[in-house]
Amino acid sequence: MFKKIWFQLHWFIGITAGTVLMTIGATGAMLAFREEIMDALSPGVIHVQVRQQQTLTPQQILEQLRTAEPGRRVTTMSLSTEPGASVRVVFAPPPGERRGQARYADPYTGALLAPVTGQEFFEIIERFHRWLLLPTEIGKIVLGTLVLCLLTLALSGLYLRWPRRPLSLRAWLRLDFQLQGRSFLWNLHSVVGTWSLVMYVIFATTGAYWALDWFKEGVNTLAGESRKGAPMQRGGKGNGKKDEGAPVPLELTQAWQAFLSKAPDYQSAQLRLPEQGTQPVQIFFLGHDAPHERARSRMVVLPQSGEIKQLERYEDKSTGARFIAAIYPLHMGTYFGLPGRIIMAIASLMMPLFGITGWMLYLDRRRKKAALRAERAALGESGAAGAANDGQLLVTYASQTGQAERLALHTAARLRRSGIAVTLQALAQVTPETLRHYPRILVIASTFGEGEAPDSARGFERRLRQAAGQSLAHVQYAVLALGDRHYASFCGFGHTLDHGLRQCGARPLFPLVEVDRMDSTALRKWDSQLAAQGLEAALGDVLPASDPDWQAWTLTDRLPLNTGSQGAPIFHLALRIQDGPLPPWQAGALLDVMPRHAPDRIALLLQRLHLDGTTPVRYQGVQSTLAEVLARSVLPLHPTTDSDAQSLADQLQPLALRTYSVGSVPQDGALHLLVRQVRHEDGLGLASGWLTEFAEIGAPLQVRLRENPGFAPVEGDVPAIFIGNGSGMAGLRGHLRARIQAGQRRNWLLFGERNARYDFLYQAELEQWLQQGQLARLDLAFSRDQAQRIYVQDRLREASAELRQWLEQGAVLYVCGSLDGMAAGVDAVLGAVLGEAGLHELIEQNRYRRDVY
Ligand SMILES: Cc1cc2nc3c(=O)[nH]c(=O)nc-3n(C[C@H](O)[C@H](O)[C@H](O)COP(=O)(O)OP(=O)(O)OC[C@H]3O[C@@H](n4cnc5c(N)ncnc54)[C@H](O)[C@@H]3O)c2cc1C
Ligand SMILES: Cc1cc2nc3c(=O)[nH]c(=O)nc-3n(C[C@H](O)[C@H](O)[C@H](O)COP(=O)(O)O)c2cc1C
Repeated sequence: MFKKIWFQLHWFIGITAGTVLMTIGATGAMLAFREEIMDALSPGVIHVQVRQQQTLTPQQILEQLRTAEPGRRVTTMSLSTEPGASVRVVFAPPPGERRGQARYADPYTGALLAPVTGQEFFEIIERFHRWLLLPTEIGKIVLGTLVLCLLTLALSGLYLRWPRRPLSLRAWLRLDFQLQGRSFLWNLHSVVGTWSLVMYVIFATTGAYWALDWFKEGVNTLAGESRKGAPMQRGGKGNGKKDEGAPVPLELTQAWQAFLSKAPDYQSAQLRLPEQGTQPVQIFFLGHDAPHERARSRMVVLPQSGEIKQLERYEDKSTGARFIAAIYPLHMGTYFGLPGRIIMAIASLMMPLFGITGWMLYLDRRRKKAALRAERAALGESGAAGAANDGQLLVTYASQTGQAERLALHTAARLRRSGIAVTLQALAQVTPETLRHYPRILVIASTFGEGEAPDSARGFERRLRQAAGQSLAHVQYAVLALGDRHYASFCGFGHTLDHGLRQCGARPLFPLVEVDRMDSTALRKWDSQLAAQGLEAALGDVLPASDPDWQAWTLTDRLPLNTGSQGAPIFHLALRIQDGPLPPWQAGALLDVMPRHAPDRIALLLQRLHLDGTTPVRYQGVQSTLAEVLARSVLPLHPTTDSDAQSLADQLQPLALRTYSVGSVPQDGALHLLVRQVRHEDGLGLASGWLTEFAEIGAPLQVRLRENPGFAPVEGDVPAIFIGNGSGMAGLRGHLRARIQAGQRRNWLLFGERNARYDFLYQAELEQWLQQGQLARLDLAFSRDQAQRIYVQDRLREASAELRQWLEQGAVLYVCGSLDGMAAGVDAVLGAVLGEAGLHELIEQNRYRRDVY
């Protein structure tokens, strides 16, 4: 919550004040090199050619100027001992004006040089930088506010980006050019922000000194320098008494002699000249070893006698006074010489970069939010499930890997477009009680486990079982059950729902429709049943013949991970997309792979059929060769030699896809799978055999990447517990890599296999994470390393106290691997440790996420 507030503040200030700060930064960078730029623009003015002759004294220059510019009085004269440096003079302002003209005079002749190009421009830039061109008093208030905004941005930014591994320089400072899109913008924004942080805090605090009077007074008081007024005003006017007598022309020779006697090795001096020769001259000067340009000493001298009235050397100043003198050079960076100035200028120039990346991130967020809103609006999601929605239709879904959800979204959108008021809700969010508010309900539900509900709908299943009587007597419903005929309990959960709803008195609109592996014929049947009820869902359109999501990838690497194991071999595979950069995916994603038969097997079949594999055939509307079509199809069990190539192709059914858990994140540069070879009596499993044995490195693969909502990462920085066995390590590793890269360290892994010696998958990586604290805890269960069999669920039971503690801290649980044995065992332990109610609560809060098979 606290973090959220800071986040909102950072965004708000960023897009408002941040935009103005960009211009302040850019002008600051220009001002840092003002002298050099003006010098380059006006050659021979700020510096003249060095000559082998004495430079003039201030008195000589004054005389030259009096002759050349009669009637104009010089108020300030700045000299430097740097060879060739011109003398900067400021004339008294003409009546009615505040600022006098500044010019340069030749140090050897006293001749007034041409006006400097860019001087006015830089004056405007400076006024912009200091007061945004506003009247000074208002400008100061605005700048004071901006300065506070800069400080808030810098410090809130630091807080928001605080990495989980604060001791790792990499996490703080490394720009990652492999990232793309939003992640890259974020990396740039936060890493460059960290680099510039110290500079911004310096800009803000030193800037505040000039912009905020209360701050200035506070600093002065703390420094013991609370100045009640300037010691002496420019031109020496404020010396208390005004000379009444006849004007006495100013003569600087005595004063200059007196100055030289006290500061013979000065670097530069600024003389503030009085109107009358009887008034004192003020000289500010830098000694030869002055640490910065504001380490100035001050002398007050009477020009007529050369008597020194006051001499305040910088070296004798208090620490507080020196600190105040350092404020300007700190702001400019000159306190650290030229390198400091360059660094500060670069940091100022970075401000626009922040503004731009910050704005881009902001707009991206807005776009995403707007898209979501538009989707919701299109779907007509009309409020809470519990609200009365008489006259409406409820579309509800239960999904493990997202297919049922997708169909439900599509149905709701279609119905909505045809003018029907539809409420869309996950089954996890409805109760039998809320169903009463809808006269018509469409349920789309997949089956998971062994005829069970998807994890998210387990609570609903229980509530439905408990609901008794005829409470839904006025409700009509239809169930679309997604499933896979290869499972013993085909569409089991769909049937459970159908039965439960009937028990509560609800009446079916038409009999339950079973869908085997998203078969489009069954989906069309559902469409036509609905159409007979005046409802148009058009689910047949969801699965076009050539699914656009399939992509051509390449197998780029394959490593056996458990050579010598008692179990079936497991391989680490790396895949890359053939064209373009890797598409993005979230941890927990799944990869559907279209398997192929081994080439030998196809060759053998063709030989038996006396057919030529290169014969062109048309298959599913696409031109191909017979061998290619056979490689992707279910092979005929009893092949006969009486058909030709095309009629054989016409009888073929495509192979069923296989799904694998993704074990990497896009930043890894490749998609990793962990595939266990399946062995049958008659050979290897089709897909696992193809991936681990037959496909050559470099072989093309038809795959489809999809998100897995039931196993996706949770938002926010919560602890996570990962439990799995065997190839289930893939899904866990994907999450671990994502979290570790994001600096999240509260990770607890429980992993099990047979023998530590052969089956400790990714051992080096896990041990390194453990050592570096990126894995807070690692529990291993090698079942066959001891007489008694030990599994992950046993380790979980042993650690039940800590498990409860982690869950109390908001941990999310991820389980990946085999459904039989492991997942069921873990489920039982969780039930025992947390109680059934506790486990259901976890499921309902979406904190129990599974990818089990
Ligand atoms: C969500 C999910 C994630 C998975 N993640 C991984 C993973 O990370 N690593 C891993 O090794 N395995 C994983 N699997 C298992 C994987 O999908 C395969 O089941 C496994 O590799 C065996 O496939 P096979 O083709 O080699 O074996 P086969 O024995 O050829 O087929 C295995 C299964 O595919 C189905 N099948 C076979 N023939 C057909 C057919 N003609 N029509 C329809 N279906 C058929 C059957 O259900 C059969 O049991 C995952 C499975 C799921 C559901
Ligand atoms: C681990 C697992 C177990 C499954 N068990 C069954 C089952 O017992 N009966 C069935 O008909 N289908 C079963 N299926 C198939 C799914 O119901 C089917 O793939 C469905 O389309 C998934 O939809 P979903 O993405 O909305 O979860 C199972 C699928 C998986 C991955």
